[in-house]
Amino acid sequence: MTRRIRKAVFPVAGLGTRFLPATKTVPKEMLPVIDRPLIQYAVDEAIDAGCDTLVFITNRYKHAVADYFDKAYELEDKLERAGKHEQLEMVRNPLPAHVRAIFVTQPEALGLGHAVLCAKEVVGDEPFAVLLPDDLIWNRGGASALKQMADHAEASGAGVIAVQNVPRDKTSSYGIVDIEGFSDRHGAIRNMVEKPRPEDAPSTLAVVGRYVLPPEIFASLENTGRGSGGEIQLTDAIADLIARGGRFDAYRFQGTRFDCGAHIGLIEATIRFALDHETLSEAARESMQRALDELGVAEN
Ligand code: G1P
Repeated sequence: MTRRIRKAVFPVAGLGTRFLPATKTVPKEMLPVIDRPLIQYAVDEAIDAGCDTLVFITNRYKHAVADYFDKAYELEDKLERAGKHEQLEMVRNPLPAHVRAIFVTQPEALGLGHAVLCAKEVVGDEPFAVLLPDDLIWNRGGASALKQMADHAEASGAGVIAVQNVPRDKTSSYGIVDIEGFSDRHGAIRNMVEKPRPEDAPSTLAVVGRYVLPPEIFASLENTGRGSGGEIQLTDAIADLIARGGRFDAYRFQGTRFDCGAHIGLIEATIRFALDHETLSEAARESMQRALDELGVAEN
């Protein structure tokens, strides 16, 4: 696998139950950090990595995601008439001219592996990326996590999976990799297990939602039965390819990952982005200080 990735798959058909009641009508991928929805951060990362085809695996409740990347004639007209040029630019070109968006329906919620399999016809016979928008990765001023991984995939010819260390009592929330050891930022994966109990986990290196995969993954997914949680797991399909000699590297990316699929992760991302924001940082800092003072926790 030596070609540069061009296609990025975004599984966005999940129910987002952790963020109910908001997610009753707002897809979790549309929850904002400051003024941009989570999906925008993931899309920017894919484009930074060189992708020009974005494949959204969606369902009938997620029209807001498609609408977001569509033209909004009435809004544009109003902003234009009002002379609000800055806002107009923000909504006018949701994607750069060379990038196209494709929407594929996942008819049943059968898991991440099944969602990725839904992209088979659109991806075809080439390596591609998968990005889980819940995982927001911030690498201030540097290359995006997916760009780092795509560069490594191109240079090495291996599939590449983003990883980071987690506390052992959290292994049952992640795919966990068993590696031969790191050289620089990457290490060959020997095996992968989806959401093992801490006592069964082969390590504490957890899969983060960024993957560069070979097209062979589709055949593997077609033969993958239901695994953890009764779902078709991407982890199991990758483990199967590895067992049959496929080469996958775990990759320790440069940057900070916020798990925005959980309340605290979304809060952390918001705080971090606010403190780093061009116009909001001072007000954000003051407001946080005030809140800490008022709650009497500043000295604790
Ligand atoms: C998915 C993957 C898991 C990975 C995680 C990263 O799980 O199945 O291997 O570690 O994303 O966010 P989910 O969080 O969808 O349950």
